[in-house]
Amino acid sequence: MPDFVKRDVDLAKRTTLALPGRAAFYAEITAAGQLARLTGSSVPRRFVLGAGSNLVLSGDFDGLLLHMAIGGRQLLAEDDDAWYVRAGAGENWHQLVRWTLEQGWPGLENLALIPGTVGAAPIQNIGAYGLEIADRFLSLEACDMQSGKTLHIDRAACRFAYRDSVFKQQGWHLDAGRVVTHVTLRLPKAWQPLTGYADLAAELDQQQIANPNARQIAAAVTHVRRRKLPDPAVLPNAGSFFHNPLVDAAAGERLANRFPGLPRYPQVDGRVKLAAGWLIEQSGWKGRNLGPVGMYEKQALVLVNRGGASGAEVIALAKAVQAAVRERFGVELTPEPVFL
Ligand code: EPU
Repeated sequence: MPDFVKRDVDLAKRTTLALPGRAAFYAEITAAGQLARLTGSSVPRRFVLGAGSNLVLSGDFDGLLLHMAIGGRQLLAEDDDAWYVRAGAGENWHQLVRWTLEQGWPGLENLALIPGTVGAAPIQNIGAYGLEIADRFLSLEACDMQSGKTLHIDRAACRFAYRDSVFKQQGWHLDAGRVVTHVTLRLPKAWQPLTGYADLAAELDQQQIANPNARQIAAAVTHVRRRKLPDPAVLPNAGSFFHNPLVDAAAGERLANRFPGLPRYPQVDGRVKLAAGWLIEQSGWKGRNLGPVGMYEKQALVLVNRGGASGAEVIALAKAVQAAVRERFGVELTPEPVFL
């Protein structure tokens, strides 16, 4: 193996849930060219690590961890309609959002303060406060780990959906068969503020900002997030631990009749999105612990490690919460983070 591959590396500080685990092999990837040296089937099982902000380590990993640290961000092009911004997969997402706003290119403000890297963002189609990366995505480059060739993938080919993409459907995040190296975003010049999301609207209202600019929206989003979501540096967590479940319209109607106050978000495809945080709270798990892990007291959808937890303890709590929600509502919650 190339000399930049290290052996037996501790991962506890490399994921935001701070669970214990080691990687047998570990490569920090700062340039796409390094990936071409790690292709082929003689290399052990691979797994891609970004900022580790959406990852549950369930123990030691006997394969090769590719820690994506490809940097760089640039204005690739500009035309009458948009700015086109390209960034390396290892760039910090929030720093990219801040930088574009400082340059005077609005469009990413609703996605401020989301933890993680640029390369991971399209995999699960990060979204918050009424916007998804899909709405600003142009294309990405990835390395095919069989051939070493660079693939160019446009927006349509990504098949983005709520917290989903072709990359998840094809398991890129599980077997690292293809690895994202760069992402290009399209920021339209015809900018419109997106302030419809309840928490964001309330925050702007409270600050008495009627016609916010992009930087004010980013500041308001940051404020709401800081108030509701625990800082992983203080209280280890991986953000939302479950997807918001999608049910068909009839099931949504039945549940709403039985449970007044049930938040429901109709989707364009006719389905209804439910709020997993509400379901968990109503099932009695908000602020409740099981061993050293618990569901956060200010946002029941966030699983927190209160200190010294193992992957098995995280999984035990996730199962208990799923069972409680299933029993009370007949709704199945699916975990949002990736399990290694
Ligand atoms: N709710 C409760 N109790 C709770 C939490 C939420 O009743 O403990 C209710 C709220 O009152 C609200 C509804 O559930 O009526 C939705 O809550 P919120 O607006 O806080 O958003 P969410 O659906 O819980 C999603 C994303 C977040 C994203 C926010 C804002 C998912 C899985 N999570 O959370 O994403 O920041 O919306 O757009 O879609 C993440 O993925 O890690 C993440 C933090």
